[in-house]
Amino acid sequence: MSVLIAPSILAADFANLEKDSKMLNNSKADWFHIDIMDGVFVPNISFGMPVLKAIQKHAQKPLDVHLMIVDPDRYIETFAKLGAKILTVHQEACNHLHRTIQNIKSYGMKAGVALNPHTPISVLDSIINDVDLVCIMSVNPGFGGQSFIEKTYDKVRELKLLIKKNDSNCLIEIDGGVTNKNASKLISCGADVLVAGSYVFKANNPQENILLLKNQ
Ligand code: DX5
Ligand code: ZN
Repeated sequence: MSVLIAPSILAADFANLEKDSKMLNNSKADWFHIDIMDGVFVPNISFGMPVLKAIQKHAQKPLDVHLMIVDPDRYIETFAKLGAKILTVHQEACNHLHRTIQNIKSYGMKAGVALNPHTPISVLDSIINDVDLVCIMSVNPGFGGQSFIEKTYDKVRELKLLIKKNDSNCLIEIDGGVTNKNASKLISCGADVLVAGSYVFKANNPQENILLLKNQ
């Protein structure tokens, strides 16, 4: 399977979401990555349900929703209704992660777990067969346009080993500071999905940069 590319809408033109959504529809991107921030779990507020609804109207590819919010269980049903195909919660935001994952799946969505840069892979030991995707944060969540944290490569390798050892089908997603400079190394370490915000939307030719990531 070739690497999946999930451009992050956080870096798109919010005054022109229809245009940017169509650009992604006509590109080699695989998913739409949607960052929901609450100003509590992370020091920033992005956008919420009405904006997601507007994106959903135009998006013709799966919505990969990344919740950077406290107590995400409150909104699982809402995001299911808004058309999320993959719903990712932060391990650090869930006291009962196993229950949250089952809850996400009960709505027919794929369940993802994101780990902050300081969180070790070992927190997933008991749950790796329950999750469909692990999102390794390669920046501290909250903002686009930050620099990639180099320690990420070791975490990807370690997660890949854990997945193999447990015969899990879980995908490895990398989020933050992804560019053509780190993509091929990430893929060789085991990454299945690359999220890219600035590298795609701040480019002169976003579709070309998507292709560059895709063809690593
Ligand atoms: C960070 C978000 C990322 C962000 C990536 O909190 O989760 O998805 O939009 O943006 P870049 O690729 O610019 O680092
Ligand atoms: Zn994200």
